[in-house]
Amino acid sequence: MCIGRSAGRHRDSVTRQIFATPEALAAAGAELFIRLATTAVAERGRFMVALSGGSTPKTMLGLLATEPLVGTIDWTKLHLFWSDERAVPPDDEQSNYRMAREALFNRVAVPPEQIHRMPAERLPLLLTAEEYAAEIRRAFGGRRGSTPRFDLVMLGMGDEGHTASLFPDTEALDDHHRLVAPNYVPKLDAHRLTFTPKLINAAADVLFLIAGAAKADVLQAVLEGPRQPHRYPAQLVAPENGTLHWYLEAAAAAKLH
Ligand code: 6PG
Repeated sequence: MCIGRSAGRHRDSVTRQIFATPEALAAAGAELFIRLATTAVAERGRFMVALSGGSTPKTMLGLLATEPLVGTIDWTKLHLFWSDERAVPPDDEQSNYRMAREALFNRVAVPPEQIHRMPAERLPLLLTAEEYAAEIRRAFGGRRGSTPRFDLVMLGMGDEGHTASLFPDTEALDDHHRLVAPNYVPKLDAHRLTFTPKLINAAADVLFLIAGAAKADVLQAVLEGPRQPHRYPAQLVAPENGTLHWYLEAAAAAKLH
């Protein structure tokens, strides 16, 4: 059962847009964020959004916190979550929370109790994953066992095809029950917390922001190659009853046919 936006809107569609520069990509991402936030607040009085990590979303978040865009959203109606997080403290330079705090929510009036940090530094991670899933359900007002339906889940993609912290050939790829899972990433020798495909694919809208020539080969494999989700976890993203937006910067999209 999905909670959140009415699950009856069968819009499982995919959009793909290519932008000439990273700046144009960021501006388009910010515009979609505002459009979805405005609709969600008008329809349900709140906007439930999971932010992605890495570097690509930073420019977009900064645009949202700057005139003229900053005045177009009632920030008091937003609930911020993270689609993944590194196992580091919130003030670590690797922290996705810190990136979003510096780029966005240090500059806008999201109520602190509506900023739902993913505390991936807290061990044991399996318990932390369960606690974060419970926090998500509480924020949505959902019952145990329900699958919350985010208004928007933001994602990036690594140059080997990972998304969130769903890395190739890692355990969380096959977690079909949890909403949030711990995930050890051997290639990084790092522990992560991540949304599972189950939670991502329950969302009403999912936005991939992808930039950089280094991603061109893997993006072509993800979008146009055979389905190999253990090799290219980004292929696991397919909202069951929602819209998947591929926002691509030209250099990243250069190998697409
Ligand atoms: C993370 C991210 C990750 C990111 C990709 C792309 O915690 O690293 O959530 O999934 O989106 O690695 O990162 P860049 O935007 O820095 O290329």
